[in-house]
Amino acid sequence: MAMTRILMVCLGNICRSPLAHGILESKLPNDLFYVDSAGTSNYHIGERPDRRSIAVAKTYGIDISHQTGRQFSLNDFDAFDIIYAMDQSNYDNIVRLARSSEDIAKVRKILDVDSGLLNKNVPDPYYGDRSDFEHVFSLLDSVCLKIAEQLTS
Ligand code: 4NP
Repeated sequence: MAMTRILMVCLGNICRSPLAHGILESKLPNDLFYVDSAGTSNYHIGERPDRRSIAVAKTYGIDISHQTGRQFSLNDFDAFDIIYAMDQSNYDNIVRLARSSEDIAKVRKILDVDSGLLNKNVPDPYYGDRSDFEHVFSLLDSVCLKIAEQLTS
């Protein structure tokens, strides 16, 4: 059976999408699903995730410390089946790069998987504190559970 490939995207690829990447990966069988993450910006290419994202993930038993920041590229439309944007701005930035309706059809806002969170954004915690990272983790943990259930049912 072919691998399903899922890409998590935020702005910097150091706070939100590395968490989404690690959380979803922890909920799916890794022989059938490949999960990765990227940022729409070039701000943090080659960097490890933000230390606060690493710390909150570790609290819940998920190690994201090995991840490396990279920028979203056109090739990602070919390499991935589903592209989850963390917020509306990320979504718009990705869709602006799309070359076809097939590309656009792959892009979703991650919180839309929960009808109670439709049109909501995963808030950018970069200028926040530990509680903001806890909130982001909790949001992503709940929607990644729904995504994993959808993909494996
Ligand atoms: P992320 O958070 O998009 O969740 O990785 C940010 C990280 C860095 C910056 C903005 C948001 N920045 O402006 O450097």
